Amino acid sequence: MDYTVPKLTDYSAAALEKAAGECIAACATEAAEVRSDADLKAFRDRWMARKNGILTQINDLWLKGAPKDAKREAGIRVNELKARILELAESAHVTSSRSVAAECVDISLPGVRRPIGAEHPVIKTRNEIVAVFQRLGYSVAEGPVVETDYYNFEALNFPPNHPARDTQDTLFIAGQQAKPLRERLLLRTHTSPVQIRTMEKMRPPIRIVIPGTVHRNDPPDASHSPMFNQIEGLAVDTNITFGDLKGTLDHAMKALFGSSVKTHFRPSFFPFTEPSAELYVTCFICGGSGKRDGNAPCRPCKQTGWIEVLGCGMVDPNVFEFVKDNGYDPKKVSGFAFGAGIDRLALLKYGVDDLQHFFQGDVRFLQQFG
Ligand code: PHE
Repeated sequence: MDYTVPKLTDYSAAALEKAAGECIAACATEAAEVRSDADLKAFRDRWMARKNGILTQINDLWLKGAPKDAKREAGIRVNELKARILELAESAHVTSSRSVAAECVDISLPGVRRPIGAEHPVIKTRNEIVAVFQRLGYSVAEGPVVETDYYNFEALNFPPNHPARDTQDTLFIAGQQAKPLRERLLLRTHTSPVQIRTMEKMRPPIRIVIPGTVHRNDPPDASHSPMFNQIEGLAVDTNITFGDLKGTLDHAMKALFGSSVKTHFRPSFFPFTEPSAELYVTCFICGGSGKRDGNAPCRPCKQTGWIEVLGCGMVDPNVFEFVKDNGYDPKKVSGFAFGAGIDRLALLKYGVDDLQHFFQGDVRFLQQFG
């Protein structure tokens, strides 16, 4: 590395050629000696550093010092020289990465182990429920999490200011007051808005399940979360009856929890179904007795032997009125709908004692389901 940039006094073509030749030769020798990334850095600093690198020095010493009539010729030379030096730096770069790779690969070293992921218990439960319904001929539909008042409430027969809206603990998007009520945005409180969205797009008959996240203004605790997962079901056709609803859900519960599970319907209220019901299944912990081994009280079912798993009912004719133009004449079609909390089902299914475990992402918890 003993090349230094000489001062030029002779600007004849021959002298320029000689000086440039010497410079390139020196650069080529040094480029060939680059073996590592550190060498490469040193090479680039020496030749290309903006402040006092060899290229900069050449600019200063050869160009700026050139007599007027030689300036043009010297400029052309120096440009050629620069291009050549940049090329050499580039090839030094390639050689250096190759030799670094050659030096570093030790094929006897163990490989990088990437931990294998596992399906999250909530997703696993969701997929199982979806699969049960797909086998019955249902397809999957989805809809937006940020919803309008129209789909979340109005078209589901919750009139403005109706007290049934209060039960939904809605999280509203701020700054919507200037819009008409039905266009105001909120976080959907259930997957039911997708019933309407699907009926707007597809004419009857339909059979769909709708998994998705929903939000409610509930502080997080062992059995509540401001974000959770639901799965909705909707079947619309001619002559769908409450018997179809009962038979379908009884089948689904047995497919999910085992053939010995019994189902039980209790009257309930939802604005978008009439009649409405809550579905209970025999407790999968105590088998319906309300007691654990040694006569201890069963906690998940609060000793009743029954666990509530979902809300359901026959689609209210008022709901069909909103999609009547797409073939849903309430005089001609009927249907049933249901909505279940997936997280709660996963909680019961896997005997998890705190809902928050599902959302905290602690691998020690999640690994148990791998
Ligand atoms: N959307 C209701 C809820 O979140 C559940 C439901 C769905 C009830 C469909 C009846 C029919 O509570």
